Amino acid sequence: MKRTVIFCAVLAAALAADAMLDDDAALAAARATLAKLTLREKTRLLAGSGTMTLPAVPGAATAREWTMSDSSSTVRASLDRWGWDYVEPQTENTRLPSLSALAQTWDVNWARRHGEVLGAECRDRGVDQLLGPGVNILRTPLCGRNWEYLGEDPVLAAKLCVPLIKGVQSFDVAATVKHFCLNDQELARGTVDTHVDDRTLNEIYLPAFRAAVKEAGVLAVMTSYNRIDGIWASENRYTQKGLLRDRWGFKGLLVTDWGGQHSTAFAATNGGGIEMHCGERIRRICNPRTGAFPLAEAVERGDVPAATVDDMALRTLFVMAKTGFLTGAARRRGVRNTPEHQRVARQEGAESIVLLKNDRAVLPLNERSLKKVLVIGSLADEPQCRKGGSAEGNVPYEVTFFAALTNRLPAAEITLLPFCARTELAETDATNATEAGAHVEMKTEEAFCDEAELRAAAEAADTVFVFVGTELGVQENMEGEGRDRVAFDLPAPLQQAMHTILDWKRPRTVVISRSGTPVGYTWTDKADTLIQTSYLGMEEGNAICDVLFGDVNPCGRLAQTWPVRYADTAVAQCGTYNATNVIYNERFYTGYRWHDHAGIRPLFPFGHGLSYTTFEFGELKVASGKLRVENGEWRVMVPVTNTGKVAGKEVVQLYAAYPGATVERCAKELKAFAKVALAPGETRMVVLPLTVRDLAYWDDFSNRFRTDAGDYDILIGASSADIRCRARVTVEKTAFFAD
Ligand code: BGC
Repeated sequence: MKRTVIFCAVLAAALAADAMLDDDAALAAARATLAKLTLREKTRLLAGSGTMTLPAVPGAATAREWTMSDSSSTVRASLDRWGWDYVEPQTENTRLPSLSALAQTWDVNWARRHGEVLGAECRDRGVDQLLGPGVNILRTPLCGRNWEYLGEDPVLAAKLCVPLIKGVQSFDVAATVKHFCLNDQELARGTVDTHVDDRTLNEIYLPAFRAAVKEAGVLAVMTSYNRIDGIWASENRYTQKGLLRDRWGFKGLLVTDWGGQHSTAFAATNGGGIEMHCGERIRRICNPRTGAFPLAEAVERGDVPAATVDDMALRTLFVMAKTGFLTGAARRRGVRNTPEHQRVARQEGAESIVLLKNDRAVLPLNERSLKKVLVIGSLADEPQCRKGGSAEGNVPYEVTFFAALTNRLPAAEITLLPFCARTELAETDATNATEAGAHVEMKTEEAFCDEAELRAAAEAADTVFVFVGTELGVQENMEGEGRDRVAFDLPAPLQQAMHTILDWKRPRTVVISRSGTPVGYTWTDKADTLIQTSYLGMEEGNAICDVLFGDVNPCGRLAQTWPVRYADTAVAQCGTYNATNVIYNERFYTGYRWHDHAGIRPLFPFGHGLSYTTFEFGELKVASGKLRVENGEWRVMVPVTNTGKVAGKEVVQLYAAYPGATVERCAKELKAFAKVALAPGETRMVVLPLTVRDLAYWDDFSNRFRTDAGDYDILIGASSADIRCRARVTVEKTAFFAD
């Protein structure tokens, strides 16, 4: 048996070095430029000159405008200077899998490649700042933008956003981590007031932002639309100054979400950043032609110290210098729409797919055995890449599942039948949703009507694929920006249709569930064969087929707990979810933390995912079981063996538990993970680093992270509900960490 040692940290460090100007040189260049600017010129660097631009400032030697573009899985087509219309003809870019899919890869290498593709495509389009990644936490399955984020777990999100950001920035493009912070719902996002206790904020909602700043050196942060304890996020001294700048030492630029700033002097004196907007409002924020310079006037009136504007402008110039924009340094060249980028889209997508059930080993399918195929569900052939709000793209092509299947099986007879004819839905106003919004009956996009026709087709087919789930868009059962889904459950007629189809017990029925967030399914016990995919971008269909036909052994793992019903979720049971005042009463019990705590079995647990092979975990070893040092590190080692007949990848998940804790703690929390590729029969030693700081909780009394002296259990699992081995470590002395 071959034995190889994998050091995850080494692996991550071995990823390509980044090319940006170092901080001191960039700061010196920024200072030299700032010294030449008038007050009005400085304020011009602090407001958009168009929907996606900062103005060229001759005094700053910025001969052209600084250009921004969304988002986290593509570079959005160019927008009209004053609005949200696309400039025609629209530019085309690769669309990678959504971040909810990237999260399901549990793979830092894919995160890095994802970032590099975005960086390269930005450079080729002349985009200087990418408005992504989004790292808000999946608090409620209803949130319309969960598909744009990295799942429910702060450690998973933090560990994936770091290589992604580094990948973008390795192309001399500024990444923007967003939406800072507590924008965990779209319902009334522009007005809602959020309230969370310090411990929950620090343990759940901040870690990904902190990692973006402190570990990835992200150059930009976007504030969110909501209020935090009554104060707009874009004017919030505590989050913008207290956390971001003072505690984390953020040197880059802050930018408001579009239209998310509500004042001039108050925002500036409370750590605010660049004000972005669109339309007429831009002309009022800063306009040399009309002479509208509200921020400069506030300085002249004495409402804002000149030094504040200097600091704000310096940050913009610093980021411009870092990327080479200001200094004229040679910037890395970009490319877009290359076969290599399309390959990344396909492979990352395939490796994000989660095999939830394969009870009768129907998968992988043998192409030769598929002669007459029925695909049920019109979503199977409904393009998604150009939808979803600011994260939408414009792609040179898009392969739906149905198209991919047709290409792959040229000799087969393939029929696509909808559940039934489409019925149009009215658009709803998200702000009308009520506290009980999640229980509103959802209208259905498709209704199951002609059972006889469908059944006859299913009986004539050797294989039936059922494509079910959500789509991107603005209607009430869809996922998208600016609104939440109004119900967790699949619409009742579709739910019923799924039961009916699965009750036919056609021997080869494969259910493909696609969504960026959990959906209420009542029929999964009847499905023998079930995969979960998120939105995979332009290669979605090919990526799904790669898994179904065994070209890629499924290795995605859920980045979200899949609840049985909405009423089982923490938010439904103890938090609040409404359009006015949202209190995070469930505290740090999000996702699996809640299910463990309340003893509620999920439909599928966080971290779950099957493979076409099997893996065994050997004896767990921990180097240095006792620790005196304050910031020491253990090396947790576990041998993993591929015990099946095909090559595959396992995700080794390390959770910590606190048997003797004197403060309230979760039953377990993810602390580290590694994805390991194994040939049949191969064993590898997986080494996961774990620090004393990793075991800390936020201590409200000392206002610091704190790890109490005592025993800790290290649990190694294949999911949060499938713990395979454990070991105990001891921290000998209580340790505090300022951050
Ligand atoms: C979204 C941001 C986006 C911005 C610019 C806002 O509506 O919330 O995520 O980056 O628009 O398009």
